[in-house]
Amino acid sequence: MLKIAVLVSGGGTNLQALLDAQARGEIQNGQIACVISSNPDAYALTRAKNAGIPGETLSRKDFPSAEAYDHALLDLLDRYQTDLIVLAGFMTIIREPIVNRYSGRIINIHPALIPAFCGKGYYGLHVHEAALERGVKLTGATVHFVNEVCDGGPIILQKAVAVLPDDTPERLQRRVMEEAEWKLLPLAVSLFCEGRLSVQGNTVQILERKEGTA
Ligand code: GRF
Repeated sequence: MLKIAVLVSGGGTNLQALLDAQARGEIQNGQIACVISSNPDAYALTRAKNAGIPGETLSRKDFPSAEAYDHALLDLLDRYQTDLIVLAGFMTIIREPIVNRYSGRIINIHPALIPAFCGKGYYGLHVHEAALERGVKLTGATVHFVNEVCDGGPIILQKAVAVLPDDTPERLQRRVMEEAEWKLLPLAVSLFCEGRLSVQGNTVQILERKEGTA
């Protein structure tokens, strides 16, 4: 059973999608071991508590340097014997020591079809504002592995969502979550835990379910 650490900063609707999938038995061979928040007031921590999962707060501002913060985060991840890190709206940059230690074992969800509207500055509502400004007819969500390039790791799953004429950034954000994010993230986590993601360069291949498994 792989141990999963979910890193959050805000409302935690993607965390909730993972918790719900776990409760339905859809994450075989994986279990959410802890939720780590960069923000002590994140509602995501309440969601963890309600599900009986340990919640931890680790704010960058409580550490004198980025190195000290990396160290504390690695300690915490070790303490929960983490096999997989899921970034579900985590607003603190994951730096090289963590990316190296957990190479190929960090998954992020981004609310656009990478490589559109991604990279530095594209987070939260800004992503959807940019999509509306550019006038795209399709946007969506991407789950990808995390490497040293911001939003640049191998893509695991993507799902397109139509942009509607009366969309506001808020409406589009909500629809991208409902139609794409909350489905893609649990699916990607479940595929990872079943050992069904094979990475070659930039390409992730989804392997068939192994014989003899449910
Ligand atoms: C989501 O839009 C996710 O794609 C992005 O941050 C947001 C987190 O929302 N990385 P929530 O906290 O899961 O509700």
